[in-house]
Amino acid sequence: MKFSTKAIHIGQKPDKETGAVIPPIYMTSTYYQEAPAVHKGYDYTRAGNPNFSNLEETLASLENGKYATVFSSGLGATNGIISTLKSGDLVLGTNDLYGGTYRIFNKIYNNFGILFKSIDTQDVNAVEDAVKKHKPVLLFLETPTNPLLKISDIEAIAEITHKHGVKLVVDNTFATPYFQNPLDLGADYVLHSTTKYIGGHSDVIGGVVITNDKEMKDKLDFVRMSVGLNPSPFDTWLTARGLKTLAVRMERHAENAMQIAKYLQNHPKVERVFYPGLSTHKNYEIAEKQMKGFSGIVSVEFKLNLNESKKLLSKFNVFTLAESLGGIESLVDHPASMTHASIPKEEREKSGLFDGLIRFSVGIENIEDLKKDIESALKAV
Ligand SMILES: Cc1ncc(COP(=O)(O)O)c(C=O)c1O
Repeated sequence: MKFSTKAIHIGQKPDKETGAVIPPIYMTSTYYQEAPAVHKGYDYTRAGNPNFSNLEETLASLENGKYATVFSSGLGATNGIISTLKSGDLVLGTNDLYGGTYRIFNKIYNNFGILFKSIDTQDVNAVEDAVKKHKPVLLFLETPTNPLLKISDIEAIAEITHKHGVKLVVDNTFATPYFQNPLDLGADYVLHSTTKYIGGHSDVIGGVVITNDKEMKDKLDFVRMSVGLNPSPFDTWLTARGLKTLAVRMERHAENAMQIAKYLQNHPKVERVFYPGLSTHKNYEIAEKQMKGFSGIVSVEFKLNLNESKKLLSKFNVFTLAESLGGIESLVDHPASMTHASIPKEEREKSGLFDGLIRFSVGIENIEDLKKDIESALKAV
């Protein structure tokens, strides 16, 4: 079965009781038991719910994986993975992670003795040196990264982590399973903030971890239940609903983003455009090798100072100034003061994230309207 068919049918069978084509929302906290501990596979919704199972089946199949565990958010999913570690363990991570991922390692888990070190995962040799030097248990890779769209070679890095007995997790939120499948490239675990493209409509928060490792699946289910990282039945139902149109949405996101990237690349007020689909991107060859498309995020350094950048952000009419990304509507974000404010300025600038950077989550609106909006906003500064 091909991707768009799987997204609609796998895990989404008509209801056996009533024939309802769309599975109902199981809004229940608990389940009837015929005798103590005799039930139909569910006992309490913190531990499991048919809506979780349906979405898990769809997401596992879209990532070509065997198992999935859904969580309350993308950070809930990260929390789920870290909760399988122990004090003294060290995690290496990409040096341009989503700000909240950086924060959870540096402000929460460091207090429990789990150590974190950022490295430049674009450089495969630097990854091998860091793995040898720091002896991590886990490498946390984000590719493309948020917000600088850095690309790391998943297959080459998986070879290194396997050689050294290190587990590899890939945050695949930006690419989505439609454009990139890290398990096929050797990753051990794939993570998504399903809040973004997978839900796709900016109306739900969620996360997932997908793996082929049954032992890890059991650990993640146990952690979710024990720590209380479960989503709600309604949220998982809504996510499954959004997911059905992922293939068509991603085609349009990528098409629009490519046009915006090309348009901005030639604009006199632009210093630099970050988009993995441009042949000028630093790691374009790797992006082309491991991705089937380049998704919908474009980040831009304008020839503007901080005040001018802020003024520009107030001039959009179609793009909405807001955190998050991956919904059908176009959003614009100022990472340094919004999504990545939790990373100290010095640390941000080391990885190339300066105050002037603006991130566009290009939606699926008409491309002419999007271009006109950018053009008129730029004219006003
Ligand atoms: C790449 C990436 N990973 C993880 C997360 C965290 O997801 P959530 O906001 O669903 O907790 C985000 C949120 O922006 C993200 O961009």
